[in-house]
Amino acid sequence: MKSIASAPGKIILAGEHFVVHGTKSILCSINMRVNVTAEFMSKKIIITSDICNVIIDDLSDNTINIIRPFICIIKKIFNKYNYVGGIKIIIKSDIPVGVGLGSSSACCVAVAASVSGLFGKITKKCIVELAKEGEKTIFENTSGADCTICTYGGIIEYDKKFGFKKINTNKKINLLVINSMTRHSTDLTVKKVMKFKHDNKKHFDLLCKKELLLIKKLKHSLINNNLNSIGTQMKKNQEYLRQIGVSNKTIDNLIRQVNYISYGAKITGAGDGGCIIVLIDKQNEDKLINSINENYKCFQIENERHGVTVNKQN
Ligand code: PMV
Repeated sequence: MKSIASAPGKIILAGEHFVVHGTKSILCSINMRVNVTAEFMSKKIIITSDICNVIIDDLSDNTINIIRPFICIIKKIFNKYNYVGGIKIIIKSDIPVGVGLGSSSACCVAVAASVSGLFGKITKKCIVELAKEGEKTIFENTSGADCTICTYGGIIEYDKKFGFKKINTNKKINLLVINSMTRHSTDLTVKKVMKFKHDNKKHFDLLCKKELLLIKKLKHSLINNNLNSIGTQMKKNQEYLRQIGVSNKTIDNLIRQVNYISYGAKITGAGDGGCIIVLIDKQNEDKLINSINENYKCFQIENERHGVTVNKQN
């Protein structure tokens, strides 16, 4: 039997970094996905993807960084069911890695769902918990927002302490992603913001307050599909992210370049490179893409309703 899970990537419409420090964030799943197929093997652990091809004898081998989150997740599931055999996992992803589109969270969610699926039914609540445990092996301070959106899908308001609420809108949000082609380390960027907070306590607290207000406005703008207001909040959020030091020259230039033709643009995810998202009318997309330096990769995305799904195949 094969258990096949599919999880969406994500963007952050507002609140990245601030959410780690107790404010909220608004996230949205996107129409790019990770598919993971799991099947039992008599022995050995085999994990294959576009970026790794690993065979280990057992789950005590913790030496290969790239698969550490998956080993953590598999171990927890095997222990729960007292299973001591092997497993083969094939990961196929169309989400670019390390640029703020939720690639690692979507992988953790899909691995948790597909491996659990081999043993029976699993709730989304359990999938999120397993995925977060996996993610913590590479990024200890995760707010849990990314794994939550990749599991439940749609648009959510997330709070580290109180969990998430769905934001109900049926409208499609058309966004252009511009990948600055520099990968970031979420862990390092979050540590950089912690230092900023430590050195600039008053400034950081003020920005947290402003961010909370912005999130409230953004939530209403999303429900009312008010693109002008969504764009305004995105612009404001970008300015707050710039002030805490997670933008850079390339991103600042790109933001300046796209503002005239869009409703607004901002970093998605940790920043310090990665992608920006641009809220733009479809008819203006080509004009913008043609004006962007060809070293950067541009592509269109939409919000996606469906979170993680699991199917079995005999
Ligand atoms: O860059 P990503 O996709 O890993 O997003 C990180 C978002 C942060 O708010 C910076 C961290 C977090 O855990 O919420």
